[in-house]
Amino acid sequence: MPTPPPRQTTPPAIKSRKGGQPIVCITSYTASMTKLVDPLVDLILVGDSLAMTIYGMPSTVGVTLDMMIAHGKAVARSASHACVVVDLPFGSYEQSPAQAFHSAARVLSETGCSAVKLEGGAEMAETIRFLAHRGVPVMAHIGLTPQSINALGGYGVRGRAESESVSIMADAVAVAGAGAFSVVIEKTAEPLSREITAAIDIPTIGIGASAACDGQILVVDDVLGLFTEFRPKFVRRYAELASQIGPAVSEYAADVRAGRFPGPEHVYGD
Ligand code: KIV
Repeated sequence: MPTPPPRQTTPPAIKSRKGGQPIVCITSYTASMTKLVDPLVDLILVGDSLAMTIYGMPSTVGVTLDMMIAHGKAVARSASHACVVVDLPFGSYEQSPAQAFHSAARVLSETGCSAVKLEGGAEMAETIRFLAHRGVPVMAHIGLTPQSINALGGYGVRGRAESESVSIMADAVAVAGAGAFSVVIEKTAEPLSREITAAIDIPTIGIGASAACDGQILVVDDVLGLFTEFRPKFVRRYAELASQIGPAVSEYAADVRAGRFPGPEHVYGD
């Protein structure tokens, strides 16, 4: 079992940032990426978006607890500054608070991360309370909840219709009251995200939920432009790495084929 490395940023420290300087969050799934982003951000999420970014799956529904633990270990052992949060995958927590505790305890003890994230609002409040009272810091996730894609029928914007906005507000109040230390609000209309941020006393972390939130999170592959085919409106790309990878690998291939690589400087002599 790993000894959790002392990380500078804890879940209570994230909670205390409510209303202060915006909280910077990003996903990471590997040790190498974590070492690069850790000094620059406040929170790293080992998101179940690894379904698409790492495994080429069509949605997050097929992600397993073992997959999350494997990537959680790689990230947690590579971060010394940012708070590391690992997603509980679909099917590992919804059945009962006891099931959620069992899964969360495995994630915390086997990876050395600092907290778990789970999707759901008012219906998960009892579970969040159960976990929070037993030493498991919980980040909630409301608005668009991708693990429910089969029930939702699509990844559309949430919180535009009056009835939906009332229910998402109730979700926010419920998860905050249950003891979540922060809440992700995904792909939700700006006026509602603003109202929620003003109404609850824990930080709101937006992804497609406007600058009104207390912090922002993006998928690292989106920030770096590693996908060519997927450009959601809520993403700003800060690099276009996909367009650099093709030319780099093609130059390498051409050098190998022409005998230009390895050169004398890459060879071990006697
Ligand atoms: O899985 C993930 O990466 C997430 C973020 C998009 C918030 O849940």
